[in-house]
Amino acid sequence: MITPILLCGGSGTRLWPLSRKSFPKQFTDVVGDESLFQASARRFAGDGFAAPVVVTGDAFRFIVSEQLDEIGVTPAGIMIEPDGRNTAPAAIAAALYAAEIDPETLILLVPSDHAVADPEAFRKAVAQGRVAAEEGRIVTFGIAPARAETGYGWLEAGAATHDGVHVLNKFIEKPDAARAEALFADKQNMWNAGVFLARASDLIEAFKTHAPDIHDTVKAAMQAARKDLGFTRIDPALWARVPEDSIDYAVMEKAPNVSVVRFDGHWSDLGSWESVWQESDKDAAGNAVSEHSTAYDCENTLLRSESPEIELVGIGLKNIVAVATRDAVMVADTSDSQNVKKAVKELKARG
Ligand code: GDD
Ligand code: MG
Repeated sequence: MITPILLCGGSGTRLWPLSRKSFPKQFTDVVGDESLFQASARRFAGDGFAAPVVVTGDAFRFIVSEQLDEIGVTPAGIMIEPDGRNTAPAAIAAALYAAEIDPETLILLVPSDHAVADPEAFRKAVAQGRVAAEEGRIVTFGIAPARAETGYGWLEAGAATHDGVHVLNKFIEKPDAARAEALFADKQNMWNAGVFLARASDLIEAFKTHAPDIHDTVKAAMQAARKDLGFTRIDPALWARVPEDSIDYAVMEKAPNVSVVRFDGHWSDLGSWESVWQESDKDAAGNAVSEHSTAYDCENTLLRSESPEIELVGIGLKNIVAVATRDAVMVADTSDSQNVKKAVKELKARG
């Protein structure tokens, strides 16, 4: 059995103003009619999968249980981080939790901000990676890149070792633009899907070797965790000592025992308004226009009003994303939509 670890504690600020600190994008129906978190939980449920472990923030604990309940998934545990310290601490906390039950168990780290058109095909890729994980490899999943993206990790594959599985020569997290162009030029390279498969014990070993500080501080905070109404609350005072980092920088760029399975189906990280536009149903001119919104003579534009009280009208726009909610309006050039994160940071600083 594989235990899915559902990581859903991110704040999703790049999808502001739809995604809010109190209700981030993974719990909203950005595209389709279930939330991204629900879609991720269902993608890895059923045959071959044990009940999932969820790692999230205090503010989201009830959203998580309600949304799992709605889709009939009973979690093996819901772990609560006192605050978000990025994916490395969340991942090692979950690995330690799973290893308590069975150190040999395979865990699948699952982000909750993805759209995957054919979940069955992704499960097949996971099944292919399983043999390698059972031999002590950390398995990543590679996506055929569509552009020189700087917002993702990149994978340089080496020789094949099993059916569909290759050794990973290099993991490059969020390269700068020049490096991304060079990586994109070599058609063998792939995007990192952000999903990882490994034995709990091997992931723990990798953290001990490459990120010992994160391992030790998280372990101490986990040992002092307390149960509260079915939630596992990690100790806040000890958690405050945990360094902030992503699993990609802390471990994946450094570990020598990494493999990759190529996933050829459709995949998207709905990390920015540009990718939401790409994933949405569009008219002949490439416009994605939601309810309470109208586009005249626009091209490749996303117009989305979340409020029945705001009619959003675009005229003569090209490559624009405009999103209106009850209390905020955001308009950006589509290619700049990764910068929403910076803008939100400045707004926060202003108070
Ligand atoms: N529990 C918890 N705590 N979850 C978190 C935290 C945290 O502090 N921070 C982020 N997450 C969750 C997010 O909700 C998301 O589902 C997932 O972990 C990944 O985090 P992102 O912040 O979205 O990562 P990314 O998109 O910048 O980069 C990762 O994913 C890319 C593909 O989507 C990397 O793995 C890249 O290499 C990869 O290409
Ligand atoms: Mg993401």
